[in-house]
Amino acid sequence: MSRQWTPEQRHCIDARGGTVLVSAAAGSGKTTVLVERVIRRITDEQHPVDADRLLVVTFTKAAAAEMKQRLGKALAEQMAAHPHDRRLQRQQMLLPRAHISTVHSFCSALLRENFHLLDISPQFKVAEDADVRTMQQEALAEVMEAAYEARDPAFLALAELLSGGRDDRKLTEAVLRLYTFIQSHPFPNDWLQAQEALYATNAPIANTTWGQTVRRYVSGTLHHGVAMLRKWLPPMPDRCSPIASSWKYWLTILIPRTTGMTPSICWSSSPSTGWAACASIRTSCSKSG
Ligand SMILES: Nc1ncnc2c1ncn2[C@@H]1O[C@H](COP(=O)(O)OP(=O)(O)OP(=O)(O)O)[C@@H](O)[C@H]1O
Ligand SMILES: [Mg+2]
Repeated sequence: MSRQWTPEQRHCIDARGGTVLVSAAAGSGKTTVLVERVIRRITDEQHPVDADRLLVVTFTKAAAAEMKQRLGKALAEQMAAHPHDRRLQRQQMLLPRAHISTVHSFCSALLRENFHLLDISPQFKVAEDADVRTMQQEALAEVMEAAYEARDPAFLALAELLSGGRDDRKLTEAVLRLYTFIQSHPFPNDWLQAQEALYATNAPIANTTWGQTVRRYVSGTLHHGVAMLRKWLPPMPDRCSPIASSWKYWLTILIPRTTGMTPSICWSSSPSTGWAACASIRTSCSKSG
């Protein structure tokens, strides 16, 4: 069946020689495009690839089954159009052996084939979520007990900070949350160490990664506030008017109080250019004492 591909789909289908990342809305044709890519690879006249040499991994079993079923259907359509094509016949024969599976089952198969290199039992099985949670709780309880016994001041300070001397539920929750979060990184411990290194600095707080993030946020907020006020407030008659004082209050009292930073304000002496005051708030604020 020949389809009218959209330009974006065509682009995804034809892309070769590198990594292709496709991000598109639900139902926009991602699987259809992937099936077409696979079909084109295995029927490529110049550089054909056998179906069992491809690796297609999905997140769910349903998606893997859908992929297999759609590939089989697409190949059957090709066969109907070219019934005597030996190459297609061979690919149809190889398709059941193609590596189309979930990430989990691909990893299991890889481990099972190489268990002797990893020094693990070939009988291993993938743990159920409930089992994983129980094992995590047990491991965590063991680690916590050892840490309390070791009386490391840094650990005790952390426990006190998070749990405030009561039960250490908040601390264990934080550890588990962090553990779960870092699992999405390819090298979790390296990532964790890199984050830890960011704290090991004597730089003033405003120059740290977090300080700079806060500064950028405050700067953006100030710019936005200034732009909104310039747009919506009527021209300011002079610096002694009530509106001018509320401005001054906002800039000199509220901002330092809420952000810990002091904007520099320079009031224009001319009523007609009164709003220059807004523009001259320096967003690279100086930290108030
Ligand atoms: N160019 C096209 N012309 C006609 N129909 C199309 C086209 N591209 C995709 N479709 C149809 O749109 C439907 C959704 O496509 P598909 O399942 O590939 O989307 P998807 O992005 O994988 O969806 P999901 O996000 O649910 O996984 C299918 O019925 C498919 O045949
Ligand atoms: Mg899909």
